[in-house]
Amino acid sequence: MANKSQDTIQEGKAKIILPKNVFYNKMARFSRSMAIPIIIYESILRGKPLVVADALAASGVRGIRYYLESEAIDKIVFNDKSYSAYKTIYQNVCLNEIDSYEIFRFDANTFLSIYGEGVFDFIDIDPFGSPSPFIETAVRCIRNEGIVAITATDLTALCGLYPRSAFRKYGAVVYKTGFCHEIALRLLIRNVVEAAGRQFKIASPVISYFSEQYARVYLRVRRGKLSFPYDAIGYIVIDENKIDVIEAFKFDGVVEGTVVGPLWIGPLHDPKFVKNVLERNLFNYIGETEDRSRAAKLFKIFLEEWNMPPYFYNIHKMCKKIEISPPPVNDIIEKLKSLGYKASRTHFTGYGIKTDSSSEDLLDVLRDLGR
Ligand SMILES: C[S@@+](CC[C@H](N)C(=O)[O-])C[C@H]1O[C@@H](n2cnc3c(N)ncnc32)[C@H](O)[C@@H]1O
Repeated sequence: MANKSQDTIQEGKAKIILPKNVFYNKMARFSRSMAIPIIIYESILRGKPLVVADALAASGVRGIRYYLESEAIDKIVFNDKSYSAYKTIYQNVCLNEIDSYEIFRFDANTFLSIYGEGVFDFIDIDPFGSPSPFIETAVRCIRNEGIVAITATDLTALCGLYPRSAFRKYGAVVYKTGFCHEIALRLLIRNVVEAAGRQFKIASPVISYFSEQYARVYLRVRRGKLSFPYDAIGYIVIDENKIDVIEAFKFDGVVEGTVVGPLWIGPLHDPKFVKNVLERNLFNYIGETEDRSRAAKLFKIFLEEWNMPPYFYNIHKMCKKIEISPPPVNDIIEKLKSLGYKASRTHFTGYGIKTDSSSEDLLDVLRDLGR
């Protein structure tokens, strides 16, 4: 029941009691909405409802929305080490009449470990700042072929503003670049893939995106070591006029330019998964109607960008440099394709273009179209 020290809010299908001392971020609503079609399609793939862990649950809004909106969850298991959060989750599961749940109050690593390996089909890690303390355990405890969903909000580190912090938490050297949001995502993915490798597992991205103030990745984790994706981990070398991508095992360190990595240089998304979510239009299950079209738009771009180079060019910046007004992005893409290059939009920014053309050739295209 609401009182002076707490509010009650509605997000999607969930009614949430929110005491002042329990965390809730309205800005993360879209991140919760995006997970709904992913969970539904994963349950279709598995042919059964899922067992889901909301390992850092705060008010429980995330897990409650997943349960109510996806209708694809067999059991939702909440955990938060804060006693206030623990009590609030209980109030909220009762308020929302969730039938099948458990609630724990442990450190997230302890929770996942004692609950057991191989139980959860989907583990959600949504911490304050960096997920690095929880990645190893999430990857260890997910059931074979399950999905780990991980949020990171420590963007000053991931985007290379604090290279030492990035190195300490994610084990790579990154500097601020013109496509630092993509670097952030790729650094996070590589971290999960390596954690899986240490445990004789293979992790591969299903969906990865950057939105507002966070990076969010969904990776499928399965047992194995022979098909570890060595060629999808490498370095990006940024020189004044060109960007090179070099696989880790082919990198001899003798290069000119700024080197960032090692990073994930493979696909950001599983195109089959993305296509199936789009074909089934699973966005209509998202309880926040406003988020449906935004999610659908993102998925469409995922399908365009998934096998593009691991960086993008900012068209506005390039046009400013050569003092022309930017031509429409679609015209640039068509022109590049007509010249035999791969080219696509990217979800990172509406001003971005992914292409395998050199920056000189792209500048020629811009000059040509901008005339
Ligand atoms: C960013 S909030 C979670 C937000 C929530 N997932 C949502 O979508 O609204 C992080 C939560 O993690 C809890 N927490 C922090 N460190 C933890 C740890 N080591 N183990 C478990 N819970 C932790 C905090 O009490 C806080 O409620």
